[in-house]
Amino acid sequence: MHVFTSIKPMQEISLKLKAEGKTIGLVPTMGYLHEGHLSLAVRARQENDIVVMSNFVNPLQFGPKEDFATYPRDLDRDNKQAESVGVDYVFAPSGEEMYPEDYSTYVEVKGGATEKMCGRSRPGHFLGVTTVVLKLFLITQPNCAYFGQKDAQQAVVVRKMVEDLNLPMEIVTCPIVREKDGLALSSRNTYLSPEERAYALALPRALAAGRQLIQHGERNPGRVREEILRILESSPGIRVDYVEVVDGRTLDELPVLRGSVLLSAAVFVGKTRLIDNIDLEVAPCTAAC
Ligand code: PAJ
Repeated sequence: MHVFTSIKPMQEISLKLKAEGKTIGLVPTMGYLHEGHLSLAVRARQENDIVVMSNFVNPLQFGPKEDFATYPRDLDRDNKQAESVGVDYVFAPSGEEMYPEDYSTYVEVKGGATEKMCGRSRPGHFLGVTTVVLKLFLITQPNCAYFGQKDAQQAVVVRKMVEDLNLPMEIVTCPIVREKDGLALSSRNTYLSPEERAYALALPRALAAGRQLIQHGERNPGRVREEILRILESSPGIRVDYVEVVDGRTLDELPVLRGSVLLSAAVFVGKTRLIDNIDLEVAPCTAAC
């Protein structure tokens, strides 16, 4: 495995490999890797000749009061893990390399998908994500880029950018990897004290209760949302940021639950903000519901 910290050699080798007819799979990450990240690399390994993983804590997607400075970092450990799942190239540039002092170009997906949910709570976040992701795509030239369903809104927004800008590549979304007790893996879980870690379990539990309502025949999005909210608000140690029950492909509101449905929530546990979601295909309700 090769680690590049500069843009030029990474881009040169990517263009060369593409010219040779090799397919490239890119796994963009901010490092501090866990099994969720690695599952993306495993999938990319199965589907491409070359696997590139980027490891860059992108300052542009953090708000001024957020955790950019304290975000966990361990490049040596990350590189060992990346190598163990067959990554060929790690791209780990510095902030100055990605955004030199005179940097001035930004990419924004406007409207619906970026304005709600995490977009509302974290203004500017998705502008930072789409800007860095497009740069990573242009540097590493992927045929396919792998994103986790964990960040469902991010995947919808990036997919929209790829469609709108006619980028000749595919976005692949991979399932959420969870701990045995249901908590979705996240680099931010390291911030949780043992007590907060226990409180955090209300998040997957509330979403699962929402899914169960739907499985039992509920087709009113408002009622599913209310139930998720009720559970979260009655759970100790949890402060709700948002709960949404929306179309999983567009994040638009649904009058009736049908087709691709996303149950999504963000909460604060202490100072740590956690997100989670469940996506499901909902059949029209029949008399049996
Ligand atoms: P990061 O939070 O490091 O996540 C990198 C990728 O791993 C994302 O696609 C995310 O959805 C996926 N991921 C995280 N936890 C997961 C889990 N438990 N199961 C499955 N996949 C999981 O998302 C980012 O970085 C950044 O915004 C980035 C896209 C790299 C742009 O800076």
